[in-house]
Amino acid sequence: MSTNSDVSSPTQTARLELPGKDPVQLPVEVGTENEHAVDISKLRSQTGYITLDNGYGNTGSCRSDITYIDGEKGILRHRGYAIEDLAASTTFIETAYMLIWGELPTADQLETMRRLLTEHELLHEGLRHHFEGFPPYGHPMAMLSAMINACSCYHPELLELEDEHHFEEATAKLLSKVRTIAAFSYRKSLGLPIVYPDPKRSYCNNFLHMMFSLPHVPYEPTREEVRALSLFLILHADHEQNCSTATVRMVGSSKANLFASVAAGVCALWGPLHGGANMRVIEMLENINAGDQSVDQVVEQVKKKEYLLWGFGHRVYKNFDPRALILKDAVDKLLEAKGIEDPLLDIAKQLESVATHDDYFLERKLYPNVDFYSGILLRAIGIPVNMFTVMFAIGRMPGWIANWYEVHKDPNGRIYRPRQVYTGPAKRPYVPLEERQ
Ligand code: CMC
Repeated sequence: MSTNSDVSSPTQTARLELPGKDPVQLPVEVGTENEHAVDISKLRSQTGYITLDNGYGNTGSCRSDITYIDGEKGILRHRGYAIEDLAASTTFIETAYMLIWGELPTADQLETMRRLLTEHELLHEGLRHHFEGFPPYGHPMAMLSAMINACSCYHPELLELEDEHHFEEATAKLLSKVRTIAAFSYRKSLGLPIVYPDPKRSYCNNFLHMMFSLPHVPYEPTREEVRALSLFLILHADHEQNCSTATVRMVGSSKANLFASVAAGVCALWGPLHGGANMRVIEMLENINAGDQSVDQVVEQVKKKEYLLWGFGHRVYKNFDPRALILKDAVDKLLEAKGIEDPLLDIAKQLESVATHDDYFLERKLYPNVDFYSGILLRAIGIPVNMFTVMFAIGRMPGWIANWYEVHKDPNGRIYRPRQVYTGPAKRPYVPLEERQ
């Protein structure tokens, strides 16, 4: 089998030769940034063959206008805007607006979005009572997913989105309520009374207020803490076809509603190879700090494949993850502003230094990813470890919403339905129960 992409001709095609078949010409699609893809959508009907790609490492599942990544060069752009510029200049809410609607908001648009977020920040009292059903030790990710899904019951009018205004309302509800749900689940886990949102506070400030205020003592985060949280959320806002976003698109492609699709995304994010890695990183650093293992011992275990170096490696980034660089710098600045030292930061830097000079990691192009330093930033803001993946979910919400909407309004959209190569037993006779051994 051989492929040949003729990129110079105006209508680009790839020629594919398959055993026992006449060669076929497959269209080559070129993206905005000159990325080339062989369109195999007609391959099975033309040849009877399908493609096989374990873990979808080489499969483009959709066309998308939202996010561009060049993993070799460490480039991440949303709607054309570089992550470095967004991190330096925007708030999470501006970034969320831009991801969902395609353009940075004008002052009026931002004001409308802020008003909508404030309007929808409270939970329906019925929804609030759901928290009583969870045990205090329940994982906040389980609560988050369940509660987002439960939102569908309380807002049935949003299950069939008729127009853009309807979608705008559903978006505001989701972005705003997810923050309230997250904070309530934390309070619930500690047996503390719930703190209602304060409409006078900004998105990030309000979240920290709901997390840490006491009924008689309002919590006032510093400007640096609020900014660090906003930065954390911006850096997690979208990342093209990662596992959870692909899940949201997959579920949305069946015409499932926004809440149900995003609840599925939360479940996908929970896994330790994806968003759950941010908790594992801190656990790993804490073990080293407690003297259970040294940095060198961890690295040796990883090289023997007994252990994963959490927060390292990425399917797409093969040089550096730009989000990790920004986070590392932000951690240094936040700790300095707060006048604190975190021994875990020193350990993380040692691990990075050892790993990035070792052939095992160099040969496999493994570098710190977004989860490597993010937990140290969250710790410095006071966020407990079991909430880390929830924080990732709050950040990823705009990306999930934008991707769901792209699927929802695609006039040529089809249900996502991959094929497989069956490797189980061939046809065999049914054995009645009394004859089975
Ligand atoms: N520690 C040790 N070895 C690793 C690691 C790691 N963190 N990541 C990859 N490898 C090895 C892997 O064992 C394989 O080795 P070999 O060629 O000898 O079989 C090689 O590197 C290639 O890795 P891969 O398994 O093909 O990588 P992948 O693209 O399938 O997986 C990943 C990507 C992120 C799941 C993986 O790097 C990993 O498990 N990292 C640790 C978990 C983590 O930090 N996840 C967060 C990802 S970034 C944010 C997010 O998406 O949530």
